[in-house]
Amino acid sequence: MSLEKQYKVGMQTDSLCGATVCKTLEEALTHLDKALFVYEKETALFFAVGFWNGGKLSIVPDDARLLAFAPPCLPSHLGDVSFCRDLKISFPCYAGSMAHGISSEQLIRSMAIAGMLGFYGSAGLSLEELERVIIRLSSQCKDRSFGVNLLNSPEDSSREHGVVELLLKHNVQLAEASAYIIPSPALIKYRVKGVKKTAGGMIESHNHLIAKVSRLEIARRFLEPPPLKVLEQLQTNGEITPEEANLGRNLPVAQYITVEADSAGHTDHRPALSIFPAVKDLAREMHSKHKYGKSLKIGLAGGMGTPSAAAAAFSMGAAYIVTGSINQACLESGTSPQVRTLLAQAAQTDVTNAPAADLFERGGTVQVLKKGTHFAERARKLHDFYVQYISIDDIPKDQRYDLEKKVFQKSFDDIWQETKEYFRKTNPRQLEIATKNPKHKMALIFRWYLGNAVKWACVGEKDHIDDYQIWCGPAMGAFNDWAQGTIFENPAMRSAPVVALNLLYGAALLLRMEILRAQGISVENCRIPCPVNTFPEFMSTQEQ
Ligand SMILES: Cc1cc2nc3c(=O)[nH]c(=O)nc-3n(C[C@H](O)[C@H](O)[C@H](O)COP(=O)(O)O)c2cc1C
Repeated sequence: MSLEKQYKVGMQTDSLCGATVCKTLEEALTHLDKALFVYEKETALFFAVGFWNGGKLSIVPDDARLLAFAPPCLPSHLGDVSFCRDLKISFPCYAGSMAHGISSEQLIRSMAIAGMLGFYGSAGLSLEELERVIIRLSSQCKDRSFGVNLLNSPEDSSREHGVVELLLKHNVQLAEASAYIIPSPALIKYRVKGVKKTAGGMIESHNHLIAKVSRLEIARRFLEPPPLKVLEQLQTNGEITPEEANLGRNLPVAQYITVEADSAGHTDHRPALSIFPAVKDLAREMHSKHKYGKSLKIGLAGGMGTPSAAAAAFSMGAAYIVTGSINQACLESGTSPQVRTLLAQAAQTDVTNAPAADLFERGGTVQVLKKGTHFAERARKLHDFYVQYISIDDIPKDQRYDLEKKVFQKSFDDIWQETKEYFRKTNPRQLEIATKNPKHKMALIFRWYLGNAVKWACVGEKDHIDDYQIWCGPAMGAFNDWAQGTIFENPAMRSAPVVALNLLYGAALLLRMEILRAQGISVENCRIPCPVNTFPEFMSTQEQ
């Protein structure tokens, strides 16, 4: 039977068995806390909503024919409810780390207040600065959850070790681990520190690790228990107790895996539709192989810019969603108004790859904004020079002049002095290598530009507008498309928690629409009433 046939919509407004008959399907859909019934009576179509009363369908009158039913679908119940419960949040969404404090203290705080999570972008900060941030966040977020980025730094393992010690010292129980290929001893130490067995025999971890990965083989390493050798070594060194070493053998390295599809920054552009289900299947396999007490939870990052993207993630079985690019464009981010304005003008195709500072010599790239800045082409040119020449002195004079005058706005000699000072304090080994190898010296000078290009963007440096390095994925353009003609069109109205709640609210509406569509109801022309900046009562923050 086709339900495309022309019904007139029933306009009965009186309350019916405790239910309300809505004027339109759009209106009925917004009552996400109530069950929705579509029924036909005397050739008219009715959309009734009511509380789901012990599974009784008494809302539908006896002389009507039920066509479709959709249960309540609360945004707080999307994904995996136990993800929210374990991490003490109300909604299954977090704001991913953004280096240099772009995921700022204000962003983390506002996400926490709204019942979600944020991870502070620790990369690029000294350990002393990071400690001050952690102290402030701990006192401001009090009983609300927040986390810090634990970024792998293979060039400087003392840095990673330092971040772990700070997290343990200040009892930060949540870390987003990223850029790992193999879980390191420092990361495993963080994971097993404080693990206990409850009176009921359950193994309970004190610290939660969310590993962000985009490859199946790396996901596997995080879903396995920590290697025995590493646990034994940590115990021998006195870094963990025998009990922690013993209990740690029964835990996955990370209970939570964020699958990162095509995203801002470091990305291998994996399509969400292919990588997410593969990691999800692997998690099921690992859970049954290792008989973990708690299920493994898999979330999705990369491309999250609209309610449709969020709904797609939850439909695939994501336990939670992760936003990135769109948060940088929000008021609370630690970047400059100039960057926010550029981001608000970006289309989905206005992104490109540019050489990454940390992977410069190896040709690694990051995804950045290309519209409104010349960073990507300039950084590529630097990489071409690096490949072509042995030493900075081999660069032809006219090219060198252009670089020093027009791009760097400093001489190579001055940059080298600054670079030396920086590495003398942070990583003197780099200087030793550069003294022997002029190509390495050239790389360090070029990396000075790449590093500063992020800082110039963050502070809105007027003399370097063309050099802004702005990490950005296609999610930004998708968000801008969706925001057109709404409150979010104006960059000044973009608040990270309000944006995130809209993604969840819209996703819940869309998922209910799909349930109706699967029962034959035509929903093609149904308009979703969002974004909004005030939400119904059922969206208020309640700790789970
Ligand atoms: C400006 C910016 C900086 C970022 N810095 C980091 C970082 O330091 N560490 C990290 O794990 N992820 C970083 N990311 C990635 C985000 O945490 C998130 O995983 C990603 O942006 C999600 O994909 P999307 O950009 O498509 O939303 C950054 C993203 C942006 C936009």
